[in-house]
Amino acid sequence: MPDFRYRRLGYVALNVSDLARSGAFYEEIVGLQPSGAALAGERLYRCTQRHHDVVLHQAAAPGLRRVAWEMESADDLERLERHLQSLGMRTFDVAAEECAALGLARAVRVIEPHLGAVFEYFHTMVSAATSYVPTVTRIARLGHVVLATDAHADTERFFLDQLNYRASDRIEGAVTFMRCWPNPLHHSFGLSKGSSKRLHHVNFMVTDIDDVGRAMYRLKKHDVPIVFGPGRHPPSESIFLYFLDPDELTVEFSFGMEEFPEIAPREPRLLPMSLQSIDYWGSVPDPRFAAQGVIAPLTEPA
Ligand SMILES: [Fe+2]
Repeated sequence: MPDFRYRRLGYVALNVSDLARSGAFYEEIVGLQPSGAALAGERLYRCTQRHHDVVLHQAAAPGLRRVAWEMESADDLERLERHLQSLGMRTFDVAAEECAALGLARAVRVIEPHLGAVFEYFHTMVSAATSYVPTVTRIARLGHVVLATDAHADTERFFLDQLNYRASDRIEGAVTFMRCWPNPLHHSFGLSKGSSKRLHHVNFMVTDIDDVGRAMYRLKKHDVPIVFGPGRHPPSESIFLYFLDPDELTVEFSFGMEEFPEIAPREPRLLPMSLQSIDYWGSVPDPRFAAQGVIAPLTEPA
């Protein structure tokens, strides 16, 4: 059983079809703060004191570029790397110039074999030089990323047995919510059962329920499609609101989440598949909810 320890979801890199348009959306509508440029065709954004929480990358097919995970230490990163190599997975060191642009000490990338998604692992991210100043939303953190897959059982097993995640709850036949051990948040990652492999949604946790309510009126004012919610998820007790970015990628704001102790956590629950398991309040998802988002292959091994 692997024993490497995660600190948190590190950041998410999204491919967007129009960097200027999406940059303006994530800054003005979502409330992220620009945090400089990285590689050519990339912009960094943050919602914390961290170097960045989101990378936007200009690309033809909008969706997920990679998900990055912060390990507790350099030793944890090395143990994870050795473990993945022992499974026959190839690891790619991120070049020094790109690490410097991303504010990372050291990072490796792999192709997750079930989803075909690029996962990055690093152990230290420098802090931003200036404070994060909330504008339209008081965001607490990048909360979680959910990916959809048509090979749910095998993928879930791989995450639990080989990548050292823990299942927090499952909705039968629909989704598995996982935490990156020993991070206490109910889920930093979710695997949704779907007809294809794709990005499902990206979540930002907000600090106050008013941020969800204010977002609803702001989104309506700017004609941003709200595709699910507001509602309350039974599994994590979160109040949620899902909306679409300019490429119709699904973004979520949520408030509140159960936290798990490292020692003796409760067992995961299996909730029956019904709209009641997804929303206590009875909202119904729009067909565009979580419909768009290509998982990009690794295109630039270091
Ligand atoms: Fe979510």
